[in-house]
Amino acid sequence: MLRYEVHATGAQLPLDDVIELYRASTLGERRPVDDQPRMRLLMEKANLVVTAHDDALLVGLARSLSDYCYATYLSCLAVRQSHQRKGIGRELIRRTQLAGSPATLILLAAPKAVDYYPRIGMQQHLSCWTLKPDEILL
Ligand SMILES: CC(C)(COP(=O)(O)OP(=O)(O)OC[C@H]1O[C@@H](n2cnc3c(N)ncnc32)[C@H](O)[C@@H]1OP(=O)(O)O)[C@@H](O)C(=O)NCCC(=O)NCCS
Repeated sequence: MLRYEVHATGAQLPLDDVIELYRASTLGERRPVDDQPRMRLLMEKANLVVTAHDDALLVGLARSLSDYCYATYLSCLAVRQSHQRKGIGRELIRRTQLAGSPATLILLAAPKAVDYYPRIGMQQHLSCWTLKPDEILL
């Protein structure tokens, strides 16, 4: 049976299970899953994490940074490949939106998910800007 949980930090989630889920969803290709200390920080510093479990198995996760009043940045959304296309991703986002309310939910789509977010009703923002740690401001 599917069960969802909302966490005020990702620190308590077993790190090995989280890393295994990132790999099993394919999001691990785009996250530092081989760098355990960095993955530990990634989870510890997140202050809004929604998980989905199928019995004891971690099958989905939405990891966000939220101020719980203005903006919720959803940084990682991962659903285990064996459990994709069953509505789990949508439910993780819905619960993240609800938990962070009245904040607006903001995210950058991974290449594999560019068609997903419009499909579930999210609005595209054409003025999103990034600055990588090694990029220098003009
Ligand atoms: C993208 C992802 C989170 C979607 O989760 P999911 O649980 O499989 O998606 P849902 O079941 O909520 O899908 C809801 C709807 O979107 C559709 N959909 C799912 N994945 C899609 C995709 N990649 N592209 C387009 N539509 C998609 C579903 O068919 C479903 O449509 P329906 O309502 O007509 O049935 C999941 O596929 C995943 O973890 N992918 C790999 C990691 C990744 O790219 N994460 C995103 C980081 S930004």
